[in-house]
Amino acid sequence: MPSAPRVAARLAAAGCIAPDAEAALLLADTPGDDVLDARLVRREAGEPLEHIVGWASFAGRRVAVSPGVFVPRPRSEALVARALDLLAAAPPPRVAVDLCTGSGALAVVLAAALPDARVLAVDDDRRALDDARRNGAPLGVEVLEGDLDAPLPPDVRGAVAVLTAIVPYVPADELRYLPAEAREHEPRRALDGGPDGLDLLRRVAAAAPSLLRPGGHVLLEVAAHQAATATKVLELVGLARVAVGWDDDEITFVEGSAPGP
Ligand SMILES: C[S@@+](CC[C@H](N)C(=O)[O-])C[C@H]1O[C@@H](n2cnc3c(N)ncnc32)[C@H](O)[C@@H]1O
Repeated sequence: MPSAPRVAARLAAAGCIAPDAEAALLLADTPGDDVLDARLVRREAGEPLEHIVGWASFAGRRVAVSPGVFVPRPRSEALVARALDLLAAAPPPRVAVDLCTGSGALAVVLAAALPDARVLAVDDDRRALDDARRNGAPLGVEVLEGDLDAPLPPDVRGAVAVLTAIVPYVPADELRYLPAEAREHEPRRALDGGPDGLDLLRRVAAAAPSLLRPGGHVLLEVAAHQAATATKVLELVGLARVAVGWDDDEITFVEGSAPGP
C-alpha cells in the first residue's frame, strides 16, 4: 500500500483541495493496492470522492451514495439539526416528510434520532431511491417514488409535524458555474431549479399548507441570495412565523409554520 504522503501528492497534483484528508480516507477505506490505484485514477479524473468510496459523511452518519446520485452537503446539516429539534419538540404522533430526498440523508438522520417518529421520504430518481432504501429501510423510513408530495398516503396529509426539502435550487443560467464535480457527476435534475432557482421550492411551498398539521413546520434549503424571495413565497401560501435559518454566518434555509398551536 503506498504511503499517505504519496497518495496525497497524487491528489494534490490533480487539484484536490484537501489532499491529506482525502488520502487518509482513501487509505482507510480501500482494501488493496489494485483497488486503491483504480480509485485514485477516478479521483484524478474528477469524480467525487463520495461516489468512489460509495458513502458520504452527513451529520455524523455514514450515508450510502452511488455514482449518479446527489452527494449530501455539509451546508444542509444546520437545516436537519433544526428539523430534528422541531420534530423532537412536537407532540406524538410525530410524522416527518422529506421531499427530494436523494440518498435519504435527512430522513435517515431524523429516523435514527427519533425511532418513534414516522419518517417518509420521496424522490423521483430510481438511482437515488435505491440509495434511500438502502440507507433508510433499516431505520423504518418509508421511501416513496414520485413527483414531490404526489405519492404520500392520505393519512399523512394534514398530519406532518416537520416537512423538509432540499429541492434543486441552482438558477438554470448558473449551472455552468458549478464545480465540475457537480456538473459532470450529479444529475442536472438534482441541481436545476429553473430560471430563478425556485421553481421546485414554490411547488413544495404550495403543497405545504395541506400537508402540515396545525403548528407544523416546513424547512427549505436556499442560497442566501434567494432567502428574501423564498420567505415571501412562504408568506404568500399562508404560512406563519416565516424566518431564515443560519449555518454560522450564512443563511442556508427558510422555514415557516402552519397556523395553529
Ligand atoms: C439537491 S438534491 C437533494 C438530495 C438530498 N435531499 C440531499 O440533500 O442529499 C435534489 C433531489 O430532488 C430530486 N427531485 C428533483 N425533482 C423532483 C421531483 N419533481 N419530485 C421528486 N424528486 C425530485 C432529485 O432526484 C434529487 O435527488
